[in-house]
Amino acid sequence: MRNLMLAFLVAAPLAACSDARSDTAGWEAENPVVALPEPPLGVADNVSWRKLEAQQGLKVTPEKVRLGRWLFFDPRLSKDGTVSCATCHRPENAFSEPLPTSKGIGGQVGTRKAPPIVNAAFPIEPVYFWDGRAKTLAEQAKGPIENPIEMGGTHVLCVKSVAAIAGYRKVFAQVYGDEEPTIDRIADAIAAFEATLFSGNSAWDRYQNEDDATIDPEVKLGAELFHGKAQCNQCHLGFNFTDSRFHNLGVGWDPAAKAYKDEGRRKVTGKAEDLAAFKTPTLRDVTRHAPYMHDGSIATLEEVVELYDRGGEPGAANLSPKIRPLDLTEDEKKAIVAFLEALSGDSDNKGVVPRSLPE
Ligand code: HEC
Ligand code: HEC
Repeated sequence: MRNLMLAFLVAAPLAACSDARSDTAGWEAENPVVALPEPPLGVADNVSWRKLEAQQGLKVTPEKVRLGRWLFFDPRLSKDGTVSCATCHRPENAFSEPLPTSKGIGGQVGTRKAPPIVNAAFPIEPVYFWDGRAKTLAEQAKGPIENPIEMGGTHVLCVKSVAAIAGYRKVFAQVYGDEEPTIDRIADAIAAFEATLFSGNSAWDRYQNEDDATIDPEVKLGAELFHGKAQCNQCHLGFNFTDSRFHNLGVGWDPAAKAYKDEGRRKVTGKAEDLAAFKTPTLRDVTRHAPYMHDGSIATLEEVVELYDRGGEPGAANLSPKIRPLDLTEDEKKAIVAFLEALSGDSDNKGVVPRSLPE
């Protein structure tokens, strides 16, 4: 994916030269401002741009989204120019990645899995990161830029790199009234772009919303189990299948050390009850970004269902009281997996990759 993007970057200046009569640089003409996307079936009723502005102070406009898209895909925001947000949040993986933990600058490996970024601006309650330490998308976006093993820079350095690119200065002036790319504006534009990333119109949405839609009987059984016998909807609820809360399933428990590798939400709140609790992830597009969980330790959806059937990791400390053995039959487990598969949306997100970057 990175190679593909580099190919675009190399191709862009050539395209610009061949169109010398136009005042608009190639990178601008190739990435026109487009209308905000229509939120898809199953999601649309929960999307309110006005509510987003009230809740997170985030105003989303087509011009700002174009800027945020460029910044999201631009490796020049990182210390050595090699890592962009999209290195770890890849369009084809619902803006997650198919790796247990992320590789950032200089190939350094982190300890947590990159979460997907779909429908992320419209949660029941805005909390970002696995441990919920950021309260808005814009606040979140500032984190990776100065994370030593993600993009490895500082906010000052990032602002400097962006300010050195004439094309960005022009676009910041268009969006914010003057040329200055402050870190708050960079984060604001990236957040606006992220707010337009949706996952919906899944087989399950069509079945729920369209009179003549049919669904595989196995998926239907899976849905009944999900909302009934297995009680998955205690935590995976609402249109995005998450309660925006934190729970401990015993993932990451080390039975030999009798300890967790990652203390999760407790690090943020200091509360014992939050030990190794993590944010309930969305289940939309869940087929697109295995492996699963905050540490990417579970390879398949079948194994995830096995974990729940066992009642979480046996012997683990501080397990959620909502987790208990489920006594599912093999057919029931398969049906739950079929239901999870039916939650994948109809977009592979290829359309959001910019054709070229500002120069
Ligand atoms: C080196 C890989 C890497 C890079 C680069 C990276 N991220 Fe992430 N991202 C992660 C990981 C890992 C997490 C989870 C970290 C945690 O929860 O502590 C995360 C979490 C997030 C979340 C939270 C999602 C949620 O549901 O809570 C968002 C949003 C996000 N990143 C956006 C971005 C943006 C914007 C950029 C670029 C400025 C970026 N990321 C760069 C790996 C990366
Ligand atoms: C007590 C709340 C709770 C219940 C009940 C629950 N989940 Fe989860 N689910 C979570 C949390 C929290 C995580 C992330 C845990 C972690 O990473 O440590 C998760 C993770 C997952 C994942 C991995 C997603 C990803 O992106 O990594 C899947 C799939 C999943 N749950 C499906 C289910 C199914 C199916 C059921 C019912 C059998 C269920 N969940 C019941 C809270 C819950």
